[in-house]
Amino acid sequence: MHSSSPSGDLDPFFVFDYTPLDALDHLPADQRTTTYWDVEAGHRGPAPVPAWVVQDSGAVDTELGVLKTGKEADVFLLERAVVPPGGSPASCLLAAKRYRDTDHRSFHRSAVYAEGRGVRRSRDQRALARGSAYGRQIAAGRWAGAEWEAMRGAWEHGVPVPYPVSLDGTELLMEFVGDPAGVAAPRLAQTVADPALLQHLWEQAGTVVLQLAELGWAHGDLSAYNLLVHHEALTVIDLPQVVDVVANPQGPALLHRDCVNLATWFRGHGVDADAEALFAEAVSLAL
Ligand SMILES: Nc1ncnc2c1ncn2[C@@H]1O[C@H](COP(=O)(O)OP(=O)(O)OP(=O)(O)O)[C@@H](O)[C@H]1O
Ligand SMILES: [Mg+2]
Repeated sequence: MHSSSPSGDLDPFFVFDYTPLDALDHLPADQRTTTYWDVEAGHRGPAPVPAWVVQDSGAVDTELGVLKTGKEADVFLLERAVVPPGGSPASCLLAAKRYRDTDHRSFHRSAVYAEGRGVRRSRDQRALARGSAYGRQIAAGRWAGAEWEAMRGAWEHGVPVPYPVSLDGTELLMEFVGDPAGVAAPRLAQTVADPALLQHLWEQAGTVVLQLAELGWAHGDLSAYNLLVHHEALTVIDLPQVVDVVANPQGPALLHRDCVNLATWFRGHGVDADAEALFAEAVSLAL
């Protein structure tokens, strides 16, 4: 009945490829196994997950470099790649925005955006108020969480934001906006465009403001630095400070400032951009 020879033929059904667990401990310093399935269910991006997202649990993330260091977070370029046994290789580029939880960042300017947002645990409240190391870590996680929620809501509403892939503590992984070689799309502020394209970009920027207003939101820091231009299309980034226009007493003022910032930049580049008309339309959608 059974062939019990240790070297005998094994039923191919019971043969499988595997990666020994200790092999994963020996990845080079610039690599890690994918974090995609380590996070809570609500911390993976909305369905339908775009086909380009590598979801395989055997994938490996490789650090390709820094895209930009900022005041509050650093943004890195990652490649997530997998060669499934017997399957064809797949990879995608991701932008990893990592919030600082060290002394390097200041949270003073944050207060205005956080009005109307609750902090549940009183230990966290006291730590935040003291500005202790623990408090700074909580704050970094809260800003990452706030950006995650804003990006998810915006994506689901059709706002052109990078697809939010996952949130793991203070690290937010999102679609990389740029070319397949890893060159990031320029910010609007660095874009040289002809008048027709500038007009088109102003219309897109206005649409972003109105779409966010439909959600009751203002970006809160909208400028030519937080809009990327890729293939003549705008992508809006940097959303941790999104404010609820109604719940936040500063909401209408921040929405107005966003409209003025944008229109001022476009007017400076020869577009007949009307901040007050955009604000009037947006505020009527938001309230
Ligand atoms: N998804 C992305 N794809 C490509 N580049 C990105 C992406 N996200 C961020 N970047 C790059 O990283 C920069 C910083 O990102 P972001 O504005 O979200 O962070 P920040 O810490 O608020 O930075 P800053 O203080 O400069 O505003 C962007 O201006 C852009 O150049
Ligand atoms: Mg920014």
